[in-house]
Amino acid sequence: MSDVDMARLDVTETFHGISFPGHLHTQESLQHAMKFQFQDTDILIVSYPKSGTTWMQEIVTLTLSRGDPHLSRTVPNWTRAPWLEQYYCAATLKASPTTPRVITTHLPHHLLGPALQGSKARVIYVSRNPKDVVVSFYHFHKVANFLPEAGSFPEFLTRFLEGKLDFGSWFEHIKGWTAQEGALNLLHITFEQMSMDLRGSIEKVGVFLQCGLQEEELSSCVEHSRFSSMKDNKMINYSLVPEEIIDHKKGSFMRKGQIGDWRSLFTEELDQYFERIFTSKMLGCNLEFVWENV
Ligand code: A3P
Repeated sequence: MSDVDMARLDVTETFHGISFPGHLHTQESLQHAMKFQFQDTDILIVSYPKSGTTWMQEIVTLTLSRGDPHLSRTVPNWTRAPWLEQYYCAATLKASPTTPRVITTHLPHHLLGPALQGSKARVIYVSRNPKDVVVSFYHFHKVANFLPEAGSFPEFLTRFLEGKLDFGSWFEHIKGWTAQEGALNLLHITFEQMSMDLRGSIEKVGVFLQCGLQEEELSSCVEHSRFSSMKDNKMINYSLVPEEIIDHKKGSFMRKGQIGDWRSLFTEELDQYFERIFTSKMLGCNLEFVWENV
């Protein structure tokens, strides 16, 4: 983290109507992402925040390393799988020119689609039950000093449902990216699939990345991408980020890692409110939501 981050902690960068934390995003970095030249060998991890991004970065790193945890224990996730839209991305990719490049993004498809058009880059889209996403994001707002005040949970939920939180609308994000399943080289995987069958999920990622793993390699990937292993890995758990940016005393990034924690903050009334908006916003969308069966 540099002085740029500190100086812009309170800045919100608005780009195409979406707000982004200013300590990591600038107009130039967002423009750069939109014009990014993808290579066919690139691996792009795409998610709305709090959907399992860090988990997938870990799974991809371990899969490409055939289960060897060395890289994931020595290089921070933001260096080995940088966020395309963040200001340091171009320099990070230049400094370590590896193939394949692993890149992460929270951008919605309507902003990144033109740059990806015609590309054979492999896109891994990670989604999660939006009720768990909003609860996880709420807790993260309380520890992340670069995000606006969380306010009360009902207020926060309204901002989430209206698409007014940083990174924009969850609904636009999932609809935009999953509509590309035929057009892009895209694998859609959910946090719930990863939770219920980590081994099977890693196998699926391995096949998608054309990186068939031996049994012991697969077992090592599973071992090192479990919540309990990741929680204590400094290269993943954001404990390297200074207190001014993330207040580690208030909570940790690797918080609970559970399915269904939304029940801890949703009242019956909030649940009905959520369901009403969800139904209207997802009308006509044929996605099958695995989390409904969990
Ligand atoms: P919780 O706040 O519900 O615990 P992202 O990386 O997209 O920001 O997502 C962060 C969420 O993923 C957090 O959720 C975090 O605990 C969870 N997570 C990260 N790694 C995980 C793992 N190996 N197993 C389960 N959950 C994990």
